Amino acid sequence: MCGIVVYVGRKGDGAPAVVLEGLKRLEYRGYDSWGIAALDSRGRLATLRRVGKIGGASADRVTRLLGSGSVAVGHTRWATHGGISERNAHPQVDCKGRVAIVHNGIIENYQELKAGLVARKHRFASETDTEILAHYIEEGLARGQSFSDATRSIAKRLKGRSAFIAMDSKGGQIAAVRLGAPLIVGIGKKGEMFVSSDVNGFLERTNKVMYIDDGEMALLSFGKKAQKAPEFLNVSRGTKVRKRIIGIDWKRERESKLGYDHFLIKEIMEQKHTIAQAINQDDAKMRQVANRIKNAFGVFIVGAGTAGRVCAAGEYLFSDIAKRHVNSTVASEFSSYRHYLTKKTLMIAVSQSGETVDLLDAIDVAKSKGARILSLVNVFGSTLMRVSDDFLMLNAGAEKAVASTKATTAQLSLLTLLAYATAGRLKEGKRLLLNTAEQVNDMLNPRYEERIKRLARRLRRSRDVFIIGRGVNYPIAEEAAIKLQETSYIHAHGFAGGELKHGPLALISRGSPCIALVANDDTKHETISNAMEVKARGGYVIGVAPENNEVFDYWLKVPDAGVASPIVNIIPVQVLAYHLAVLRGINPDYPRNLAKSVTVK
Ligand code: M6R
Repeated sequence: MCGIVVYVGRKGDGAPAVVLEGLKRLEYRGYDSWGIAALDSRGRLATLRRVGKIGGASADRVTRLLGSGSVAVGHTRWATHGGISERNAHPQVDCKGRVAIVHNGIIENYQELKAGLVARKHRFASETDTEILAHYIEEGLARGQSFSDATRSIAKRLKGRSAFIAMDSKGGQIAAVRLGAPLIVGIGKKGEMFVSSDVNGFLERTNKVMYIDDGEMALLSFGKKAQKAPEFLNVSRGTKVRKRIIGIDWKRERESKLGYDHFLIKEIMEQKHTIAQAINQDDAKMRQVANRIKNAFGVFIVGAGTAGRVCAAGEYLFSDIAKRHVNSTVASEFSSYRHYLTKKTLMIAVSQSGETVDLLDAIDVAKSKGARILSLVNVFGSTLMRVSDDFLMLNAGAEKAVASTKATTAQLSLLTLLAYATAGRLKEGKRLLLNTAEQVNDMLNPRYEERIKRLARRLRRSRDVFIIGRGVNYPIAEEAAIKLQETSYIHAHGFAGGELKHGPLALISRGSPCIALVANDDTKHETISNAMEVKARGGYVIGVAPENNEVFDYWLKVPDAGVASPIVNIIPVQVLAYHLAVLRGINPDYPRNLAKSVTVK
């Protein structure tokens, strides 16, 4: 979703071009417009706002328009309040053109805050919630408040999760305020400073970071009164906060397409090794976490979207492997369970980005009841990791395509291993999953991909695709539907095989494609029977299964992976989703209307 990049350097450093480069690295998050504010040669605020993709914008053009000064603030916007237009893109400025704002998240009480400004005759240039920040700081400065106090005064009144940057072009200061949405400071060479909502915004230039925590702000100065280091303040009290500089492992984060046409197919292929990486965990830590699960009074596995489907699969895995009841729910529904939460509850939060707002809100609910939080997360340093009592890294490496693939199988692998650890069979679980990793490595070969491509050619004009699975492959059928929807825009629906006859079977007609996810377990025969019911109504049955069956019109062979069947069954659907997108002329990396990390409710 929205992205922020700020650069403070030295004279002639070409700050707008540096910020443009950083914004391009945040493209994968999904956005619909972008903009940059900078100081021109006379120290005045200059802004540039555009609708559409930033990929085509050149550093030369941005430098021509905004100069090559030492300070710039940039933003990619995913519209929430106000349509997709240049006037609603950020930065937004105050009436006097002194203060520029870029902002991520939502100001829930903005209407009430805006009403006061309108009554006091402020001129609004946009329909955004963001713009009120510029006008409130303008008022504070007019009243004689310092820039930092004026920024804190309005920050204290905001409701909802957000993060914003305010730049005072006249006073030579930038405030980076974190109120529930991520912001990280980067410390570069010779006095260079960065701020971004995502470490990828500056990782090409520095791997030294300082974390801004919730309820804090960083103050960066430039011009005559410039200081070499940022100052950190508590927003409500105004007191100083001490921070450390931390070096992060940038090799893991800095990744390109490595010769593939798209991130999506590169990330699908990386599953040849990411499954093994996910289970490369410290045994002692795994046993410690397993003990927490055993001793908890109520365990909830919670995630959103694809991660939510992984959590549902986790419920089956814990039942099957560890004979334990755990509850799973999608993060946005978690608060309905608050009455069952106690200090003994354990919440297992599953997320690729660690920034999904629905999940962070669910954690707030769990914490308010004193529950303990264990997270399985891919992005190191993410908000989720930082608010959890314990965390296990997914080790999948940077996932850039909006559609989650390698993080998904990493989550499934780690949850399976946790179930084994809880059953006191950690070594057996590791052996099984390492074997699965090898099977996936063999499966993902060019001939296999070609076979799936052939199927994609057959399905490319389909209006609907149905997917069925039973047991642990039921949530995987739902996940398969998410993959097809978000990449190919084909209507796809995942069902429990047994539910077909209770309604959805009415949708099957001649040629309707139905993917049956089959595992070599006690659900196998019933899933095949359900596939027969589809075939009897003229459906075209695609079997994802270890063995061929006469009911399949098209067979995609998968290894017999035992309880790890969800991992091997989802992979051919991921490859199918990729090729359907390409054949239908859709960019598989950036689906319309979606964002990599969903930071608004
Ligand atoms: O970063 P997270 O794992 O918390 O993201 C959760 C969902 O937004 C995410 O899985 C989404 O459903 C993906 N686009 C699915 O491919």
